[in-house]
Amino acid sequence: MKRVGLGVSRWRAGDRVVALLEGGGYAEEVAVRETQVLPVPDGVDLVDAAALPEAACTVWSNLVDVGRLRSGEWVLIHGGSGGIGTFAIQVARALGAHVATTAGGPERTARCIELGADLAIDHREQDFVDEVRKATDGRGADVVLDLLGGGALGDNVRALARGGRLVVIGMQQGRRGELDLSALLARRGTVTGTLLRSRPVDEKARIVADTEKHVWPLVADGRVRPVVHARVPFSEAQSAHDLLESGEAFGKVLLVP
Ligand SMILES: NC(=O)c1ccc[n+]([C@@H]2O[C@H](COP(=O)([O-])OP(=O)(O)OC[C@H]3O[C@@H](n4cnc5c(N)ncnc54)[C@H](OP(=O)(O)O)[C@@H]3O)[C@@H](O)[C@H]2O)c1
Repeated sequence: MKRVGLGVSRWRAGDRVVALLEGGGYAEEVAVRETQVLPVPDGVDLVDAAALPEAACTVWSNLVDVGRLRSGEWVLIHGGSGGIGTFAIQVARALGAHVATTAGGPERTARCIELGADLAIDHREQDFVDEVRKATDGRGADVVLDLLGGGALGDNVRALARGGRLVVIGMQQGRRGELDLSALLARRGTVTGTLLRSRPVDEKARIVADTEKHVWPLVADGRVRPVVHARVPFSEAQSAHDLLESGEAFGKVLLVP
């Protein structure tokens, strides 16, 4: 941290911190509210720590606040190989949930299992609804953390258990989808969507505080770690974008000075 504003009490210049930004993450310097700053967890490299705030706040708020995931329940996490998914697998596991996840190809599914998933479904070859049903003796998932959106809406609802919660956070398969309401009603299911970036300041402050309270200790004791695929110099930012678009990255790609 370079400087602190008037009235900031918790932080001092020189503190090792990360932050949940409103935007502006590609700038050399950025101003951020005191309530959106977090200490670098013990034992985590300062650069790797940059992978934490957005993923941790997204995962905690959606799995626990919105999805109400509890120990012993099954969660299906789409995109288990991505920046959010790699983190979500580890947090769900640490919460005591059974974790099913989807990823593209055998190498990526194997890495999801290494991260703690009980079941990793290769979405190129397998039907995730069938696989989740098989793994849960036909019950389905209590929570689905979804970044696919429209194209997967119907299947995600079919993958829910009775009383299941579908939490949509992304639209990688489009903004619009078709939902058979009878499938939702039969399961007494819930479909919700949230966007971290547009949440009011007080909600962000609460999410950041909850994340520090509940997730930071998991990071500090090594149960959850940032998964960093590559560090790319800022001067080669385009190649970092190309890497993400290539679908080869597993975890986060970090831009470094
Ligand atoms: N709502 C919020 O508050 C919030 C906050 C943060 C992020 N997000 C959203 O969450 C999503 C994931 O973010 P991320 O940082 O984890 O992205 P990421 O690192 O690019 O990972 C996404 C993963 O999804 C899989 N995938 C991509 N397109 C797919 C498709 N069409 N069908 C099936 N799988 C597909 C890919 O893995 P495989 O190829 O291995 O399947 C990829 O690794 C993004 O859409 C982002 O905008 C939302």
